[in-house]
Amino acid sequence: MAGPDNATTATEDERSMSSEPALESSLRLLEIGDGFIYARALHLAAELRIADLLAQGPRSALQLADATGTHAPSLHRMLRTLAACGVFTETAPGTFGMTALAQPLRSDHPHSVRTTVAQGGRLTAETFRHAEHALRTGEGAFEKTFGQPVWEYLKEHPKEGTDFDTAMQEHSRVERAAVVEAYDFSDATRIVDIGGGNGTLLVAVLREAPEATGVLFDLPHVVERNRIGESGLADRCAVVGGDIFGELPSGGDLYMMKSVLHGWTDDQAVSILEGCRRAMRPDGRLLLIERVIPKGDTPHASKAFDFAMLVMAGGQERTGDEYTALLDKAGFRVTRVIGTASVQSVVEAVPVGERPR
Ligand SMILES: C[S@@+](CC[C@H](N)C(=O)[O-])C[C@H]1O[C@@H](n2cnc3c(N)ncnc32)[C@H](O)[C@@H]1O
Repeated sequence: MAGPDNATTATEDERSMSSEPALESSLRLLEIGDGFIYARALHLAAELRIADLLAQGPRSALQLADATGTHAPSLHRMLRTLAACGVFTETAPGTFGMTALAQPLRSDHPHSVRTTVAQGGRLTAETFRHAEHALRTGEGAFEKTFGQPVWEYLKEHPKEGTDFDTAMQEHSRVERAAVVEAYDFSDATRIVDIGGGNGTLLVAVLREAPEATGVLFDLPHVVERNRIGESGLADRCAVVGGDIFGELPSGGDLYMMKSVLHGWTDDQAVSILEGCRRAMRPDGRLLLIERVIPKGDTPHASKAFDFAMLVMAGGQERTGDEYTALLDKAGFRVTRVIGTASVQSVVEAVPVGERPR
């Protein structure tokens, strides 16, 4: 039987449950839990190129449905959902227009993220259906979802492969200015970009180091799609296809890897770093351009990316200390960790001790 003490406790519980902060917490949790609804609506809007269709001015849901092969009343409801969070605006009942927030969803916007968002719907959201597999095993869930490891899948599905390169380019376009502003590349003479994708970052870096030559290194079918020629830098930049776990282009004084190590386990990352150590000049330096996780609860995009890297590839974003430990194992000493105006940091390291065989 409940005594007077219990009765008092129950009353306090009731009081605290109906108090404002508790209610706010409930609402916030429901909002976070429903976040995927907005994410899926955004993925689909990017896939359907709604922003391109609105570039010339507002259009009705009926017109947009006609152009995208969708069901007009349903499209109206999806666009209304997005307009409620600032992506698009309902200019008149059933008619939608662009907002400042929606602009980079256009394919032709200088900072477009359309391909990244659309592919996020096809690959990332799909893989996240198996997030629990990653959580229980520590393995990435991409293979469970698509039947192949990610890089093989992208090779065998060239349209997704090209879209992945474009997505990386979209990230790099947003981040490259911050990276080249934060780090002085001007005294480098031979810059080797390992896992450099289609060369977007290397082009930006070579423009900052007019005396330097460059080497773009990535998987053979990826470097085939490089954009070095169209940037007018073909005479200063070699393009080499190969395996990051094999022999890397040698003789550089500056090696860089952006968003590469985060896709691999610690053992694989050490093996890649040792490859760089073997290939580079003894007086060279290495730059890891990655999302370095800050300590504690500090809000930072690296934390969600870290969870995403686990689910997608069994990879991980790392803290500064974790990068220092990896580099130490592979024969490097960290000289600086430089924050940039973007979510990326630059971890600079130099070789120490004997060159590994
Ligand atoms: C996340 S992307 C980063 C691309 C580029 N550095 C950037 O930031 O835009 C990782 C890159 O690693 C490359 N990669 C994956 N496995 C590789 C391998 N075994 N050998 C060489 N490159 C590889 C991919 O093709 C891809 O371009």
